[in-house]
Amino acid sequence: MGMLEGQVVIVTGGAGGIGSAYCRGLASEGASLVVADLVDGSEMVAEAEELGARAVSVHVDVSDAASTEAMAKAAHDAFGKIDALVNNAAFYLSITQGPMEDIPPDEWDLCFAVNVKGSWLCARAVSPYMRAQGSGKIVNIASMTVNDGTPGFLHYVASKAAIWGLTRSLARELGNSGISVNTLTPDYIPHDAEYAAKQPGVDELITARRAFKRTQVPDDMVGTLLYLVSPWSDFVTGQNIWVNGGSGFH
Ligand SMILES: NC(=O)c1ccc[n+]([C@@H]2O[C@H](COP(=O)([O-])OP(=O)(O)OC[C@H]3O[C@@H](n4cnc5c(N)ncnc54)[C@H](O)[C@@H]3O)[C@@H](O)[C@H]2O)c1
Repeated sequence: MGMLEGQVVIVTGGAGGIGSAYCRGLASEGASLVVADLVDGSEMVAEAEELGARAVSVHVDVSDAASTEAMAKAAHDAFGKIDALVNNAAFYLSITQGPMEDIPPDEWDLCFAVNVKGSWLCARAVSPYMRAQGSGKIVNIASMTVNDGTPGFLHYVASKAAIWGLTRSLARELGNSGISVNTLTPDYIPHDAEYAAKQPGVDELITARRAFKRTQVPDDMVGTLLYLVSPWSDFVTGQNIWVNGGSGFH
């Protein structure tokens, strides 16, 4: 029996990238999954079912309040409760890279709408269900680029810095309802060719400075994510956990 048997977990952006690794890990531990994404999550659902888990795919645009409320309702309708939310969806892949003068102001707004407002809206949408049951776990995803002050996509880095503030204040606001809120911070994970092509040469540089000298892969994130949604982390809230193979010590 998996350690998350009977737990209902929503993963935004769960249809692809690192989100699908989270979904596989959660399904393997027996969680019931809500794969919430802008794109179709039915392949992920089929995979989760093959792993023996219950799963549904829900279309969501995390930057839209009504859409996030419909996501939470769909999750509750499907499984009767919501134990955890993984705020993993993000705007990055189609981002403009270059000096800050070249960032289109509308793209800045979109980046914050998805990465920051989206994380808030999803937390806001699940909170009535979690408050009613007196428990819940919310995991927000930041980025090592915040520590590094990585240049070349200021809007993304600034949006991920906001995640730390969101986590800390939310943890205090929701703590009296038994809901934990934590941040999980990955380093650079070039999980497919499109990702790697966006920042050529970066993986080699980052790998060289790590204690563990290899490329980070999505599966490297899964154990810590499982910990943060499991009872093993029940007294952990408002915290940030870096999973980066020792690329920096903070
Ligand atoms: N890959 C990396 O190097 C890296 C490093 C640090 C942090 N992160 C963070 O990890 C998370 C996952 O990253 P990834 O590399 O898998 O990203 P990705 O771009 O590969 O996948 C993001 C997923 O989010 C979905 N999505 C995008 N906008 C959405 C919206 N408005 N509503 C709902 N879903 C939406 C996409 O469809 C996609 O399935 C993100 O929060 C990212 O910022 C990634």
